[in-house]
Amino acid sequence: MAGGGTVLIEHGAIVLDGDRILWVGPEAELPGAHRTVSHEDLEGRLVTPALIDCHTHLVHGGHRAREFEMRLEGASYEEIARAGGGIVSTVEATRGAGEEALLKAALRRADALIAEGVGAVEVKSGYGLDIEIELTMLRVARRIGDLRPLRVKTSFLGAHAVPKGMDADSYLDGICIPALDAAHAEGLVDAVDGFCEGIAFSTDQIARVFDRAAALGLPVKLHAEQLSHQGGTALAARYGALSADHLEYATAEDAATLARSGTVAVLLPGAFYTLHEKRQPPVAAFRTEGVPMAVATDWNPGSSPLGSLLLAMNMASTLFGLTPAEALAGATCHAARALGLTDCGVIAPGKRADLAIWDVETPAELAYGIGINPLHKRIFGGRE
Ligand code: NIG
Ligand code: FE
Repeated sequence: MAGGGTVLIEHGAIVLDGDRILWVGPEAELPGAHRTVSHEDLEGRLVTPALIDCHTHLVHGGHRAREFEMRLEGASYEEIARAGGGIVSTVEATRGAGEEALLKAALRRADALIAEGVGAVEVKSGYGLDIEIELTMLRVARRIGDLRPLRVKTSFLGAHAVPKGMDADSYLDGICIPALDAAHAEGLVDAVDGFCEGIAFSTDQIARVFDRAAALGLPVKLHAEQLSHQGGTALAARYGALSADHLEYATAEDAATLARSGTVAVLLPGAFYTLHEKRQPPVAAFRTEGVPMAVATDWNPGSSPLGSLLLAMNMASTLFGLTPAEALAGATCHAARALGLTDCGVIAPGKRADLAIWDVETPAELAYGIGINPLHKRIFGGRE
């Protein structure tokens, strides 16, 4: 046992059959039938499941470097948002970008993740806040998966922010929920997300979006307790959410609630770091309650311009106290669960042959390095 639910096999062997894993175990126990197949000596390298980035906003226009400067001058994320910056400023840039430019920029980001061993990624909408651009964002997300050897899971995040000049309720009724219906009708939605926060939507408002998701048969997830405690975690649990994300302000009671609903806690240390947050998510309570903890980049232009899942793993360890093994489980098997994926994130017979092969001696080196990419190569669906 290497900790965090991971198992390290020394001198291991993995047998692939097409896009699936057929056998895994110590090389000494390799069944005779598999000894004669063509094989590759990995020269003692570490093999893990391909990484999974289960919370990103990869499709977006523009950047928010000015907000980075403002925060260094002392402004908070909420102050910037209330002054007209924040998410709604990326909405303007995204609306103005055009589908091809959005795709080009998103592919560059996807390529950066692939280059460090990522095999599956979640991509959210939420910078359109009108029907047309929300759908465009999701179409772009789907095209990433068509154009790259990468699995893409989409989340509809219409309830991300209230667009300028509208009130929250008329936005939800007149735009967000009709956009969800239209996106679902086009097969663009794998899950429904929201931002439950003082500067975004209340629990009652998110509940209306989640009711629609339930009616459409779609799973939900939620940005919850990021900047304050609003009760989003309990709400997400009530709807059997796949994940509750951020959770800096979640309590021990919230942890028990997540455990009961089987909801994954997705930790996003890039946002914690970028926003100079001080309050850490209740990791000890998650451990005590047995809540699976995933780790993701939250790659977005405002709160987390973080283009490295390995660095997110490092930050989860250094800033939140995850063991390196927990960080690795967080970027593989628990991340898969946060996306409702059951065929990846572990190396086991019958699972997809999505693997990352690393030039490291021990698993702990993956979270230990800062800005180092030790990937030797990635296998996706059994292919290099
Ligand atoms: O996950 N918290 C809300 N949504 C994003 C921030 C997006 C933005 O600032 O553009 C997040 O941190
Ligand atoms: Fe996010």
